Amino acid sequence: MSQASPLAELLAAAARPMVDARAMPPSVYTSTDFLDLELSEIFGKEWVCVGHASGLPNVGDYLTFDLAGQPIVVIRDREQGIRAFSNVCLHRMSTLVEGTGNKRVLVCPYHAWTYGLDGQLRGAPFMAETTGFCKENYKLPAIRCEEWKGWIYVTLDNDRPSLASGLASLTR
Ligand code: FES
Repeated sequence: MSQASPLAELLAAAARPMVDARAMPPSVYTSTDFLDLELSEIFGKEWVCVGHASGLPNVGDYLTFDLAGQPIVVIRDREQGIRAFSNVCLHRMSTLVEGTGNKRVLVCPYHAWTYGLDGQLRGAPFMAETTGFCKENYKLPAIRCEEWKGWIYVTLDNDRPSLASGLASLTR
């Protein structure tokens, strides 16, 4: 007997008339295929709200999270803007910071590579003798980040239209 995919079950449930509505099929909560689909098609592509700017009032305030498996840090920079970066050290891929807090700079707990609030590598202990190493060539990859009505959104999709354009009809 063939089984309907979780997506097919969900679409069938969504197609029912409102007066005959049913809860989502249990498979959408348990299927690893459905989870993969959500990660690739929603969390890997859409604008995702990750917090409110009022939660990062001071320069250096930050929050962290994983989005579709990508560790990300969102931080208030020295120009009072909000930026998002990969939260992975460019040296040996250690996680830079965890949870929430405030930092003057981001210091990797592993070998103390130090990044400014703009993501630029500022210091790399023990690398001075490495031929050709130039810290100016290292910057944490930026993640697209926009604010809308104070809400902070990020997306992993570099080709996605801006959040502002997508929500323009709500602000008229
Ligand atoms: S892994 Fe970050 S400094 Fe080495």
